[in-house]
Amino acid sequence: SKTPVRVAVTGAAGQIGYALLFRIASGEMLGKDQPVILQLLEIPDEKAQNALKGVMMELQDCAFPLLAGMEAHSDPMTAFKDAQYVLLVGARPRGPGMERADLLAANAQIFTAQGKALNAVADRNVKVLVVGNPANTNAYIAMKSAPDLPAKNFTAMLRLDHNRAASQIAEKTGKPVSAIEKLAVWGNHSPTMYADYRFATIDGQSVKDMINDEEWNRNTFLPTVGKRGAAIIEARGLSSAASAANAAIDHMRDWALGTNGKWVTMGIPSKGWYGIPEGVMFGFPVTCENGEYTVVEGLPIDEFSQQCINKTLDELKGEEDGVKHLL
Ligand code: NAI
Repeated sequence: SKTPVRVAVTGAAGQIGYALLFRIASGEMLGKDQPVILQLLEIPDEKAQNALKGVMMELQDCAFPLLAGMEAHSDPMTAFKDAQYVLLVGARPRGPGMERADLLAANAQIFTAQGKALNAVADRNVKVLVVGNPANTNAYIAMKSAPDLPAKNFTAMLRLDHNRAASQIAEKTGKPVSAIEKLAVWGNHSPTMYADYRFATIDGQSVKDMINDEEWNRNTFLPTVGKRGAAIIEARGLSSAASAANAAIDHMRDWALGTNGKWVTMGIPSKGWYGIPEGVMFGFPVTCENGEYTVVEGLPIDEFSQQCINKTLDELKGEEDGVKHLL
């Protein structure tokens, strides 16, 4: 049987953690033949550490055959030791009266420290997914704080936006969501992201032609996907957790095990693709094979798409400018 791999998860006692850890331990992320060791990080606060203990008791009670070990940590320097997959879920939420700059600064502190810890102790080919918001900027900060690790191994989660877009298209066309290919989401994980079905197909047929309704695209589809997170908070009283955990599983599984040519969306540091400046942590359409992602290049960008891409890029550049002095 395979050697266990080390998976570190932060914010492990939170909502997303509760929807995520059991699926990782059951083999849904890295394969039903891949044992895992969970290295779980929570803040040192006694309540959080107790809650983490409770989650670990439940993990134990599942008797997962693939769960080869688990550890509770309160320090990233021990939590990230030799980790091969890292899911950075824990982040500082916006508190009452907190300004945007305060939020960015609080998270900059967390992701600088965690990036440095990864740089010091993680496996040299660690794959990092940042879920905690603002996800793209937090991933950018962690990447910049880990100069000895490959920058390409730092990614941000756009997959929830991608999955939300796919299910809206499935509903509109009446086709199964699994039949949708070649969907792309560009930019920041925020309401400015640009979900783009111009290249999408279902059974080889153009989704754009099938829908044939540009008014729906601009005034229904894009706002629905963009504001979906807010709609869920409004309905549930809590932010998306199970769907976010599901997207994190999808992102890591596809990155590690490949997509068989299928396009998925990942937030990755740009190498200048589509005019996005080098290093900006931006959502792009990619395919994955042998543990590496490859950007889908050469797609034509029309005027409306360029406007959407510029808007989400401007927002991201603003966030990055807001934290540059803290790096
Ligand atoms: P939560 O508040 O239920 O849990 C967060 C947990 O992280 C808490 O247990 C907290 O103690 C812990 N934590 C905070 N700072 C930490 C640190 N420095 N180290 C380790 N643990 C730390 O929040 P929830 O619902 O689980 O969401 C987590 C994050 O994911 C939030 O930032 C949320 O905005 C974000 N999110 C991102 C999505 C995406 O698509 N990228 C979608 C949904 C949520």
